[in-house]
Amino acid sequence: MRNNKTIIIGSNGQLGTDLLRCFPDDVVGLTHADLEIANANDVVALMRRVRPSLVLNTAAFLQDRGEVTVVNDEFVTPTWTLSLARQVRRLCDDDSVRYGVVHASSGGQCSWYEFTEEIFRLTGTTSRLKPMSVTASAVDIRRPRYSVLDNRALKDAGADVMERWQDALAGYLKSIES
Ligand SMILES: NC(=O)c1ccc[n+]([C@@H]2O[C@H](COP(=O)([O-])OP(=O)(O)OC[C@H]3O[C@@H](n4cnc5c(N)ncnc54)[C@H](OP(=O)(O)O)[C@@H]3O)[C@@H](O)[C@H]2O)c1
Repeated sequence: MRNNKTIIIGSNGQLGTDLLRCFPDDVVGLTHADLEIANANDVVALMRRVRPSLVLNTAAFLQDRGEVTVVNDEFVTPTWTLSLARQVRRLCDDDSVRYGVVHASSGGQCSWYEFTEEIFRLTGTTSRLKPMSVTASAVDIRRPRYSVLDNRALKDAGADVMERWQDALAGYLKSIES
């Protein structure tokens, strides 16, 4: 006979945690330590034992992806929205820059590959990272090869409070730590 039991696999992950909140009744939450979904025998045994009517599998393999290929000949300055918001606030709080077009982005520059490399370093991601040319990419998005701009107006006015992109990235990653 069927029951109303729900199984949530990966229950301590981001999605699994929120699903647990939305399926509070008659639910079995399973972490990676409870169940390895690559082990077919364990999965079958579990299904026979629990006989769920619904299985929500949120197991993600983000850390285990063998190789990540990222464009290494397009250069940008990654900018955290919170840094930009602080800079806008600073501009509004004094009148060091009174008019004109003001550009504000983080300091420095990197390729998308270098950006990913830094994310991997800061998050301890161990996937292999491989550089590729944008000309070899299957994604047909036209972007400038070099979109780095200087915060000249802010610097001239002594009002540039944007941090290096590496520091902004570290700040962002810290802000999303649970
Ligand atoms: N986060 C989002 O905003 C979002 C939005 C839409 C869709 N999604 C999708 O939802 C899925 C889950 O994402 P998420 O952000 O919740 O990921 P997550 O936070 O990394 O959670 C994934 C969970 O799966 C577990 N897991 C990994 N490999 C497993 C395995 N072989 N057997 C059993 N459990 C395993 C992980 O445990 P360990 O960490 O202990 O290995 C972790 O608890 C992904 O497919 C993602 O693309 C996510």
